Amino acid sequence: MDRFTTIIEPFRIKSVEPIRLTTVEERDAHLRDAGYNLFNLHAADVLIDLLTDSGTGAMSSEQWAGIQRGDESYAGSPSWFRFLDAVTELWPFRHVIPTHQGRAAEKILFSVIGGPDKVIPSNTHFDTTRANVEFTGAEAIDLVIAEGREPSTIHPFKGNMDTDALDALIRERGVEHVPVVFVTVTNNSGGGQPVSLANLRAVREVCDRYGIPLFLDACRFAENAWFIREREDGYADTPIPDIVREMASLADGMTMSGKKDALANIGGWLAMNSDTWAEQCRNLLILTEGFPTYGGLSGRDLEAMAAGLREVVQEDYLRYRIRSTAYLGEALLEAGVPCVQPIGGHAVYIDARALLPHIPPLEYPGQSLAAALYREGGIRSVEIGTVMFGLHPDGSETPAPMELVRLAIPRRTYTQSHVDYCIEVIRWVAERASELRGYRIVEQPPALRHFTARFEPIR
Ligand code: F0G
Repeated sequence: MDRFTTIIEPFRIKSVEPIRLTTVEERDAHLRDAGYNLFNLHAADVLIDLLTDSGTGAMSSEQWAGIQRGDESYAGSPSWFRFLDAVTELWPFRHVIPTHQGRAAEKILFSVIGGPDKVIPSNTHFDTTRANVEFTGAEAIDLVIAEGREPSTIHPFKGNMDTDALDALIRERGVEHVPVVFVTVTNNSGGGQPVSLANLRAVREVCDRYGIPLFLDACRFAENAWFIREREDGYADTPIPDIVREMASLADGMTMSGKKDALANIGGWLAMNSDTWAEQCRNLLILTEGFPTYGGLSGRDLEAMAAGLREVVQEDYLRYRIRSTAYLGEALLEAGVPCVQPIGGHAVYIDARALLPHIPPLEYPGQSLAAALYREGGIRSVEIGTVMFGLHPDGSETPAPMELVRLAIPRRTYTQSHVDYCIEVIRWVAERASELRGYRIVEQPPALRHFTARFEPIR
């Protein structure tokens, strides 16, 4: 093991899904039919699907065994208790409330603690988190450190929160208007960048000064823990579960999407220490998700997450996971494709503003690049820029801080040759970047428009 340096996929494949090859002409037609929105494509028309790492991973034989073991009792199922044990082994919060996915946890929590006079700071809110905050009339504010907004600036923990800005915000708005502080680990919208334990401690200190609870949006906690081990002084030999428990010890609660670092296809949870909030959240849970021991999930889903949580903190898995994402990113950087650096945990983010300087933000350079990657090579990515974040609740539109195209890597799903193919396609498109044109939106909903908007190329 020590003699050889090739990092292999630490699994072999037991069941395969065929990928259907398509031509440029076919994809051109599919793009037009989809209104140039890749969310509207039929997945069967996609060759390599890097739209998201959420719920798209391959499950292990242990997880499939758990699916078979799933007990579907309405209340108090053994599957629930196995799930609860797996969660609290890493996250020993007093209350664990299962939900069908992460945004359901957000919806419930912010329904309880949000509202028109509230402001919720985070390093960077993910789109569903921001939308759930704003839906209650509260304001969602991103306070990531300055380096976190600069795609090419190297910093080991670009997901860190600016604690001076947090302190200033709390004083300016008043403690009574800040019900919670959120930190997203890793920082998805900011490039899949990690948050250090030192930063979490510093955020905790600010929270303690004002008596405000700290919650983690912990979707990619294991990837974050791996970066802590690799990059933060004093953790090189600390087992990953211990790092996770240290993250937990600094927080009062969490929201979680089991579709990421619980290695499951569906599921999530909300956890917290507050008895008062937990009671209110459970009451809402029963209204919208289900009884508190299954919360919108089947027993088998709870089993899949329980097994996934034990696998996701294994070193062989995380080494392969982080290394295989970096492999894609480093190859693109070497080819001169500008990417957010350092390469994040679950995805590579191409800097479309730098690659397509001739397309102004309000003509959506990220959308243009994402459409081209699909047209030329059948790769589905997602714009994380002005399409996703440019439209405000009052209907106004401004450029997002960054114009990124995310290539999210499903967990344990694609092999190195799939990634080599992606590298070839992206290089080809990047060499012809000056030929790409902007887009205009012809149809859009008032919120979360990136899911359903329809576009038209600007000729
Ligand atoms: N928080 C973060 C940081 C996320 O990345 C996501 C989902 C959620 C919350 C919501 O979880 O999907 O289970 O409701 N992110 C996916 C993505 C959709 O593609 O990044 P969910």
